[in-house]
Amino acid sequence: MIRRRQHVPWKAAGTASEQQQSADDVVRGTGWVFNNKRGAHLTLAEFVDTGDQETVAYLSVFGLYTQQVGSQSLVEIGSGIGRMTAGFTRLFRRVVACDLDAAFLERCRETVAQFGKPEVLQTSHVVDGRTLALPDDSADIVFSYITLQHCHRDDALALVREAVRVARPGGHVALNFRTWVPRDVVLWPTGKLVRSTWRLPRIGSRLAQWRVATRLGWQANRLSPRDVLPTVATALTEVTLFRAPSRRPFHLAGATDATFEGVHPSHWWLVAQVR
Ligand SMILES: C[S@@+](CC[C@H](N)C(=O)[O-])C[C@H]1O[C@@H](n2cnc3c(N)ncnc32)[C@H](O)[C@@H]1O
Repeated sequence: MIRRRQHVPWKAAGTASEQQQSADDVVRGTGWVFNNKRGAHLTLAEFVDTGDQETVAYLSVFGLYTQQVGSQSLVEIGSGIGRMTAGFTRLFRRVVACDLDAAFLERCRETVAQFGKPEVLQTSHVVDGRTLALPDDSADIVFSYITLQHCHRDDALALVREAVRVARPGGHVALNFRTWVPRDVVLWPTGKLVRSTWRLPRIGSRLAQWRVATRLGWQANRLSPRDVLPTVATALTEVTLFRAPSRRPFHLAGATDATFEGVHPSHWWLVAQVR
């Protein structure tokens, strides 16, 4: 098994979440790793509400919020503690939440039990951070948000191939990436430096719970459509690249450019149908 330093902050947050008493405590203690909100009065309900709003917004703009969702299955890569998963279970017939951290998946079950439909949920541990333990052609939609940017570059590309493998022919992938922005001149080398501290014996995982440094270090790759599409282009059709309105179009052959104001300027989405 390859040991990735990129896994350290997630495992550290997962372990910390196991020590919290209640689901609200988990959100107060480790919720910032998912939606960057902190505070002594945060609640799981508010946390899930942020996910509900994004879930519907993205599915709608991607053309995936159709009358069929109630009979469809969705796989979520990088579910965390279920910020968006709870909403997905209210919409879809079956939802598979996949995550690198097993403790997050347990918390995800609790979140869905309170705010979603637990009978719809299945969880799947991504043990090696790059392989989904799911059958071929088994999902109508494979969705991933603010996750692939946190993986080692090779693992992110492996997960893209896995998403395409798991989506059925005629199904869709909706995958979110982070690419280069001008301030990466500073952020990229700083991030590398921070990640190197996570290798330090004993204190590495403690440092990975320190919010300021972790937020600098966990953007572990920058992938543009030119990096991602060659790995899966032949398996896809109706490829649309969603970006923030402030970004220039990507102009890639075989792909349509589109904008959505909800997309962060450093992000883009690959939305496509599987052949
Ligand atoms: C920023 S959180 C986003 C969670 C969720 N999508 C949301 O919006 O709340 C990133 C999630 O990806 C998971 N993750 C990181 N690397 C991963 C990998 N290689 N494979 C699967 N999950 C991973 C982390 O454990 C974490 O739960």
